[in-house]
Amino acid sequence: MPHTPVWFMRQAGRSLPEYLKLREGIPMLESCMRPDLVTEITLQPVRRHKVDAAIYFSDIVVPLKAIGLDLDIKPGVGPVVEQPIRSREDLQRLRPLDPDDVKYVTEAIGMLTGELGETPLIGFAGAPFTLASYLVEGGPSRNHERTKALMYGEPELWAELLDRLADITSAFLKVQIEAGASAVQLFDSWVGALAPEDYRRHVMPASVKVFRSVADYGVPRIHFGVGTGELLGLMGEAGADVVGVDWRVPLDEAARRVGPGRALQGNLDPAVLFAPREAIEKKTREVLYSAGAAPGHIFNLGHGVLPTTDPDALTRLVDFVHTETAR
Ligand code: CP3
Repeated sequence: MPHTPVWFMRQAGRSLPEYLKLREGIPMLESCMRPDLVTEITLQPVRRHKVDAAIYFSDIVVPLKAIGLDLDIKPGVGPVVEQPIRSREDLQRLRPLDPDDVKYVTEAIGMLTGELGETPLIGFAGAPFTLASYLVEGGPSRNHERTKALMYGEPELWAELLDRLADITSAFLKVQIEAGASAVQLFDSWVGALAPEDYRRHVMPASVKVFRSVADYGVPRIHFGVGTGELLGLMGEAGADVVGVDWRVPLDEAARRVGPGRALQGNLDPAVLFAPREAIEKKTREVLYSAGAAPGHIFNLGHGVLPTTDPDALTRLVDFVHTETAR
């Protein structure tokens, strides 16, 4: 590539007026099951911002809905689970995901790869810990207290829960890769709530299982979480080719923590996009400078695009990174 590649987490389906218009009156989960809508929403940011990759429009809870769990995505809130999973009996509801449960994903990706041409499509899934946190809490949580109570109080049940989620996540990623996704990202958004030893003991085995399950396809595997400065090394070791970094750790320091042989993705603070243009450019130069000679840097935000971000600021940012890194 003649410049550093750029894409944005949550680039699809956020602030774009053309997205909001398309989604009018259609619930989030329903839109994820309609290949025509998925295709259009996935393409919108590629057309508008000229990003170097598309991310498949879906949500981390889609495979859980697909196996029959009673959950919904409430606007402005996030995923809400009707009957949380907290006991051994509850585990029975977490049945394996069959590719036929998500035929709409295969269909949408088939349509997308035709439209995208050379532009890669990134598939994704929620990592076992982050999915477990929604299932155990019953919805979004600041402190993950019930999740941690289960993890520390009933470690065997916890391990079984994460193992089942690892299988569901693996199956969901395989469907996307077999349909044509050219890279995958595992979102462990909330795992930064854990100390490294707890991550290693209670979470890493399940994430390792996910990465191993897709290793043979040879597609790049990205691993991302928020507030994971102390976990970056372990998240790489879990089996990632690329480690996503939030804005709290500069990329040169992240490279030391992750070690050789893995690329980095990140890490402009998404809130910087609300500052004046000169400030955005200054902070972006700092990210690019900090990425320095690290091979294979992928420019991204340190977390998802915030809902009220000015779309034009994103378009300008893509162009700025392309120009600054042109070789
Ligand atoms: O990146 C993309 O643009 C692709 C689409 C995508 C969505 N969710 C669409 C969505 C992706 C990659 C996700 C991942 C996701 N979902 C994560 C991991 C990424 C992260 O931000 O850390 C998490 C934790 C979720 C769970 C979830 N779903 C949350 C916290 C919310 C947000 C509540 C809100 O209103 O912001 C959702 C809803 C959601 N997922 C929306 C979209 C477009 C908004 C739906 C709506 O109400 O219209």
